[in-house]
Amino acid sequence: MTVNSTSRSAVALTRRELAGVALGGGAALAAAHLLATPATAQVRDGLAAIARSRGILFGSMTSEKSLDDSAFRQLLRAQCDITGPINAFKWHVMSRASPRQDFSVVDRFVSIARKSGFLVRGHTLLWDKPQMLPKWVMAGSLRDPAEWEQALRARIDQVCGRFAGQIAIWDVVNEALKFNGRPVNGPFAQALGERIFDIAFDAAHSNDPRATLIYNDYVMPEYPRMQDGILALLTGLRERGVPCQGLGIQGHVSRLASDSQYRQWRQFLAAVADLGLRIMITELDVTDTDLPAEASIRDVEGADLLGRFLEETLAERAVSAVMTWGLADRYEGLSYYRPRADGTKRRPTPFDTSLAPKPAYDALRQALADAPSR
Ligand code: G3I
Repeated sequence: MTVNSTSRSAVALTRRELAGVALGGGAALAAAHLLATPATAQVRDGLAAIARSRGILFGSMTSEKSLDDSAFRQLLRAQCDITGPINAFKWHVMSRASPRQDFSVVDRFVSIARKSGFLVRGHTLLWDKPQMLPKWVMAGSLRDPAEWEQALRARIDQVCGRFAGQIAIWDVVNEALKFNGRPVNGPFAQALGERIFDIAFDAAHSNDPRATLIYNDYVMPEYPRMQDGILALLTGLRERGVPCQGLGIQGHVSRLASDSQYRQWRQFLAAVADLGLRIMITELDVTDTDLPAEASIRDVEGADLLGRFLEETLAERAVSAVMTWGLADRYEGLSYYRPRADGTKRRPTPFDTSLAPKPAYDALRQALADAPSR
């Protein structure tokens, strides 16, 4: 695919039309509203334009501080139609000692992103894991199920109410299952069971009916039992009428799955699509834990893994969006969160610390260009 043919076909689908295709339903209206702002008159090309030409929404989540870097902002604008903060919306980041939530960082992020014409994704309303919950929640003050429910609803009412109409996609619940497909059973699930989903999605939907609401998890081709668990979970949500419109596949690529695992993966994606759900790759990166230390070799091996994962996943037309977890290694936070054993910095994203494209960028370009049109 040449750059010229990409640009020509990209013109066929405007960003507004794309948002309708990729997000659907009420979210299309919200997106159309966002995209109607004057800043969106700017022309973007790069990965987002290629994706758009295939009916796919492309973007990158990014660290809050990256938006203060004008060279990085320029790159983000050239490559992405959607962005969102990697950590700032997490509950334990917004609220520590008391239920009061601090909106200063997310207010600023959403404002800058919208003024620059991006759609915004919010990650995440409930990550039911002790380390990802506020200290006050873990301190034992919530005594019975009604109090746990009230705390969860208040968290979501405040956040979704404040940003109603401004967030195109909400990750409502994050990582509720283990790799073996069994529930994580975090503190909220211990108090409320499966109702955490009903409560969280209901609160998000009532506060922001136009946002596309998704369940987000770490599922990958190499975790077949997790795929079974997710299908069962999503089937239950559909049966109970829970307003979940999609599945977020994080896409932390770390190893090559076998051919039979990829065959099963495609069946899994088709089964999710058959439930009437959209599928989005939400945290695409190369988790380079087991890749060689030498940067140039690591980058090539990582790009190969990424390319194969994308090829297999984008073959399913219900996959309507691709978002990377960080756009440039200049702002990668994984080395801090999960350091490599050899102490070298991680290289998870498509651009390096000097903002130059890496082999992963070429792999992404190719995979998006080769994806069947939606
Ligand atoms: O930036 C501060 C630093 O100033 C401070 O001195 C230090 C001391 O605690 O903390 C630093 O913040 C760290 C932050 O990453 C930024 O690097 C936090 O400790 C650390 O916990 C946080 O880790 C994040 C992790 O989620 C936990 O929230 C990672 O950046 C982020 O990439 C990771 O993202 C998760 C998704 O939310 C869910 N899916 C898996 C994914 C990791 O692959």
